[in-house]
Amino acid sequence: MDKVNSFSCSMWFFITVFLVTECVIVSPRCQWYIKSKMSSEEKRRTNYQSGHALPFPGVKAYVDPDTYEDPTQAVHEFAKEIDPTRIRIERVIGAGEFGEVCSGRLRIPGKREIAVAIKTLKGGYVERQRRDFLREASIMGQFDHPNIIRLEGVVTKSRPVMIVVEYMENGSLDSFLRTHDGQFTGIQLVGMLRGIASGMKYLSDMGYVHRDLAARNILVNSNLVCKVSDFGLSRVLEDDPEAAYTTTGGKIPIRWTAPEAISYRKFSSASDAWSYGIVMWEVMSYGERPYWEMSNQDVILSIEEGYRLPAPMGCPVVLHQLMLHCWQKERSQRPKFTDVVSFLDKLIRNPSSLLALVEDIQGESF
Ligand code: ADE
Repeated sequence: MDKVNSFSCSMWFFITVFLVTECVIVSPRCQWYIKSKMSSEEKRRTNYQSGHALPFPGVKAYVDPDTYEDPTQAVHEFAKEIDPTRIRIERVIGAGEFGEVCSGRLRIPGKREIAVAIKTLKGGYVERQRRDFLREASIMGQFDHPNIIRLEGVVTKSRPVMIVVEYMENGSLDSFLRTHDGQFTGIQLVGMLRGIASGMKYLSDMGYVHRDLAARNILVNSNLVCKVSDFGLSRVLEDDPEAAYTTTGGKIPIRWTAPEAISYRKFSSASDAWSYGIVMWEVMSYGERPYWEMSNQDVILSIEEGYRLPAPMGCPVVLHQLMLHCWQKERSQRPKFTDVVSFLDKLIRNPSSLLALVEDIQGESF
């Protein structure tokens, strides 16, 4: 009897120790530690994402590079190191927060040269700036999709430090549309929107929330393919001239951001869907500024009162309805990116549904 008692005592002791270890000791702080020690492959295998399992087991999960103790390790896990002698810088095409953006060519062993854009980190940086600069590469290097800008690799072992990405001949979507006002067919515009939605579906399936989806952060290539770019979380918002400080101290691109993300920083794929509705409006108006010259404060108040952007001139009714769907106050009511892609695919297959324009419908009621 004593033996049985002592056995059951040891069992209870074992169970208690197990439960305490599982429920108490593996606190969020410990989870963070464990996560930072796991290799990305382990994180992917266990589908470990911010302490939560992803909704789709088996889908590759995005790993936040900030969870690495050593950010350099994250870069090398997700980005190829490029030998700088394979890069030929040709011209400066822009200025980023960290240094110049250039166009050039990259020689890939065994393949022909390809056109690339090269972001450089200007000299005199501190360690934090180098880490913030390379964070974007650690994020981009995890993605592989035709509507997400492709990372070719990084140069970290010599100076200047560089991020090399595919070259997009037509630059950013907002300025591209402004310089081609009225020049595309409805189908071409819907094709651009379909590409952006497809890239966003891929990101949301991976558990990545963009937070700064706007036409200025979409790049366009020579075939009119649109690709989502500008990754880097907080860094992106520091860099975005549209991002303004809120009363709670966050820096947010107000006109593109869902009300719950402005009020209490609830960023999610549903807040990205709100921003996607604004991108739809930018595309259909050929790069018009959302809410025109209204102040940020007036935009916030108007949205709170239920005001929504009207359809741009010549906009098909179905597309304005989709925008309004993306701008529902209740975030769970907004469409998922997978729904947006299917809806736009149907429009492309049956373009007659694009013929009813908002003006025609409004005209009928007079
Ligand atoms: N500007 C910034 N990134 C670019 C890219 N990948 N291609 C062309 N222009 C760019």
